[in-house]
Amino acid sequence: MKRILSGITPSSTKGLHLGNYLGMIKPAIKLQNDGQCFYFVANMHGLNSVYNPEQLRKNAENIFIEYLAFGVDPEKTIFFFESDIPAIPFLQTILNNAVTVSELKRMHAYKDKLTEEQKEDSIGMGLFSYPMLMAADILAFDTEVVPVGEDQQQHVEIAREIARTFNNRYGDILTLPVAQIDKNVARVPGIFGKRKMSKSLGNDLPIFATEDEIKKQIMSIKTDPARIHPTDPGDPCKNITFTYLDLLNYDTTNLKEKYTKGTISDVEIKKILLSFFLEYFKDAKLKKDELLKNKEYITKIRFEGALKANEVSNKVLTRVKNAIGV
Ligand code: TRP
Repeated sequence: MKRILSGITPSSTKGLHLGNYLGMIKPAIKLQNDGQCFYFVANMHGLNSVYNPEQLRKNAENIFIEYLAFGVDPEKTIFFFESDIPAIPFLQTILNNAVTVSELKRMHAYKDKLTEEQKEDSIGMGLFSYPMLMAADILAFDTEVVPVGEDQQQHVEIAREIARTFNNRYGDILTLPVAQIDKNVARVPGIFGKRKMSKSLGNDLPIFATEDEIKKQIMSIKTDPARIHPTDPGDPCKNITFTYLDLLNYDTTNLKEKYTKGTISDVEIKKILLSFFLEYFKDAKLKKDELLKNKEYITKIRFEGALKANEVSNKVLTRVKNAIGV
């Protein structure tokens, strides 16, 4: 069975939003039937931006629970926390010898930071070596396929390069991973249009927030600016409410017709989205509430996931250690 691995960085306390759901979670849930999946909360990656321990712990637990609520199945998928797997940082130290500083300087995450903050001297080693931690995550499990967004493609490619360099030196030891970029996966715009939906920009539709918070965001969605009265003909392409309804597979044919004719108001359409959105995510919300009440179950899932993940990664590490002479 094909080995599929993906990590989720716990950088926000506010929980997952529609962009996360459509871009990552929905495809990840589906992939559980296509191979042996390894999904994990990349809380060691979180360390390069979250310095408050309580916050990091909360973010990581929250995202773990939300993934379970959406349908990550711990019976099928090996679901764990990165920090529970000692073979990962061990392997990372080994892999440092299969990469050059200049290769790492070409990574986007580092380069973007460089322009934002100017000086190379102020960039933490954690951020600089982030692709190495990610390579270790991937290579520690003999991963074949890494489903990621386009922004992470480069990181999977360098992991593959590192594995190739390593294998050239020591023989056929590491599995070469490939990135799987699903072009059909939606790039979800934020509620003000243009930019991608992102928590930090405040343009998101949060899934697990209160009804009032969700309503507030939906009512702020950008609509056709040329349309002043509800009786003016509108252009559905200029009202992002339709984009969201379409992405959630709501049949908008009639609504769009009415909108074009000017027989339905923006507020009415937003109300339709609000009730559809609440209904769409109702089960996940109920599941999350249930899981929150059951801390023991969460601890058990985490423990069992770590056990299985350690079994796999320790085998890989032993193979690597034997090959390199330590
Ligand atoms: N860096 C990824 C992100 O920010 C998360 C991640 C960490 C990851 N380790 C991984 C993804 C390994 C795939 C494979 O989205």
